[in-house]
Amino acid sequence: MTVITHIEDLRIMAKRRVPRMFYEYADAGSWTESTYRANEADFQSMLFRQRVAVNLENRSLRTHMIGQEVAMPVAIAPTGLTGMQYADGEILVARAAKKLGVPYTLSTMSICSIEDVAKETGGHPFWFQLYVMKDRAFIESLIERAKAAGCSALMLTLDLQILGQRHKDLKNGMTAPPKFTIPNLLNLMTKPRWCLGMLGTQRHGFGNIVGHVKGVTNLGSLSEWTSKQFDPALSWKDVEWIKKCWGGKLILKGIQDPQDAQMAVDSGADALIVSNHGGRQLDGAESSIRALPKVVDAVGSKIEVHMDGGIRSGQDVLKAMALGARGTYIGRAMLYGLGAMGQEGVEHALRIIRNELDLSMAFCGHTDINKVDKSILLPGTY
Ligand code: GLV
Repeated sequence: MTVITHIEDLRIMAKRRVPRMFYEYADAGSWTESTYRANEADFQSMLFRQRVAVNLENRSLRTHMIGQEVAMPVAIAPTGLTGMQYADGEILVARAAKKLGVPYTLSTMSICSIEDVAKETGGHPFWFQLYVMKDRAFIESLIERAKAAGCSALMLTLDLQILGQRHKDLKNGMTAPPKFTIPNLLNLMTKPRWCLGMLGTQRHGFGNIVGHVKGVTNLGSLSEWTSKQFDPALSWKDVEWIKKCWGGKLILKGIQDPQDAQMAVDSGADALIVSNHGGRQLDGAESSIRALPKVVDAVGSKIEVHMDGGIRSGQDVLKAMALGARGTYIGRAMLYGLGAMGQEGVEHALRIIRNELDLSMAFCGHTDINKVDKSILLPGTY
């Protein structure tokens, strides 16, 4: 039995245990995957300043994201098809997040529905991520369902009106539930633990959609559904409309450019997330950690700036906080934990990141995450 010490251990285990089409759905970027790689790699070139002989007792990672108290500035990012990495995945991740005191964001394209997650996590508030589809009555009903479930924030994704091409998904014939082609069947036969889990649940399709959209009984491929249903005409006017329908805390996800960041401020949203969708949309876009300081400089005093993309350790979280983020999100780091070991794996991932964040902050001479700023980084490396 491997002793799990860092996120990479979980990734390797997930790769062994999750069927290829779903592992590769998560672990892929669009086209050449250069942005996907840069998201991680650009953290590596930033260096810390080590400080010594500072009293390191009573350290705290506790802070706030959109006014809500969090045990550390790390939330769970919305990820599509989480329940295909592991049976009932969304419910398990939400439980792990609750246990560790961090926010969970449920994706529109989840397997477990909003209602499933609300019921199975004992009413603990979570955030709901919204994709805008052409069918506005359906969007209104999704927003109403999120309200009824007690969601404490709505996260509107702005960078996926159209879907970036991910070669692996096309090659694997990625659908949920999986199509039983010969290569898929042969691969599933090597994943008995995953198959057994899936046999024990009824949740195999897109729970927020199937049965809620007229005529949709089975979604099949995400790319097919996206090109037919997602609204390519989404605009800032729609953001205004959604803000009004929702009436609560609103987070805008997928901002990379300071001009768009200003539009986000003008929209009256509570927070924006500097994000390139994990390198899954515009390949060749700048990494999130490089885009972050420019957005913070432009609008950091007017709106809460969060970031996602490439976070695989607590050190990455610390670097993002140093550059002015007020919160971060993990997507793949969480999915690796889930695919590896279900809820326990997600808890592992969160504890690993918490521990790395705590120790690294201390090595930089700080005891309170809210006091961390650029001065912990070596000039010229960021
Ligand atoms: C959907 O969010 C995706 O990136 O596949």
